[in-house]
Amino acid sequence: MDCYDYPQYWDLAFRDSTREEADFVDAVSDKYLRGRASRIFEPGCGGGRLVVELARRGYEVTGIDLNRSAIRYLTKRLQRNNLKATVLEADMVEYICQRKVDIAINTVSTFRHLLTEQAALAHLQSVAASLKKGGFYILGLHLLPPDAALEDRESWVAKHGQVSVHVTLDAFNACRRKRTETLRFSMRIKNPTKVRELTTDYRMRIYTAAQMRSLLAKAPEFELVEVFDFYYEIDAPQPLDNRLGDAVFLLKRV
Ligand SMILES: C[S@@+](CC[C@H](N)C(=O)[O-])C[C@H]1O[C@@H](n2cnc3c(N)ncnc32)[C@H](O)[C@@H]1O
Repeated sequence: MDCYDYPQYWDLAFRDSTREEADFVDAVSDKYLRGRASRIFEPGCGGGRLVVELARRGYEVTGIDLNRSAIRYLTKRLQRNNLKATVLEADMVEYICQRKVDIAINTVSTFRHLLTEQAALAHLQSVAASLKKGGFYILGLHLLPPDAALEDRESWVAKHGQVSVHVTLDAFNACRRKRTETLRFSMRIKNPTKVRELTTDYRMRIYTAAQMRSLLAKAPEFELVEVFDFYYEIDAPQPLDNRLGDAVFLLKRV
């Protein structure tokens, strides 16, 4: 069982972030591209909460994901909403968009699914090859500062109509030497007739601010322009240091 096979609940769990992330795409376009961004790429798009929102805002969107259920769900969702986007089952380590895009976006630590430096760099290179020169990659991930606790728990409830999803994210089993941790993703889904529990453990790569800097130094296709936090305020960039837990890197394709 894989929580990612149930994109309708995953999307519901994260729906509160969708508008902020899409607003940030608009803000990057306005501030850095004079409002001219038209093509957007989301690697690891899952059930497509952001793909749908960006397509609604008039962007030409491409979304890819390894998970077949998520891609099927998103394809139907776009049809249902009479929206168009290119969605494909593909690996973000190697996929390159046929038509170059203005902005790529990848949030909520999806990048940390890539467990080796080789995979992370291959991904950065394929995103760079998908971007127009002067385009931007918005890359959001949770950092694990050197003195941070190795175990962490976050939980919240999201509701839509008669369905509620109680999400718990447990991080444990971290090994700084191997650069991995386990992220246990649990959803307790309630509707008027049924309660269902879904849990999956994902192995994730961990990054400190310095490790992220060192990785980016090996990707000369990108220049680090600014770093933000998960409030996504375009006029409030943050210093990239060990105080930052939730980081959104704004990378320019040079
Ligand atoms: C944390 S979820 C985020 C989903 C979506 N971006 C969102 O914000 O709601 C991570 C997604 O990345 C996908 N994924 C993981 N590794 C991938 C890879 N190598 N290539 C493409 N998708 C991948 C998973 O299937 C999952 O749908």
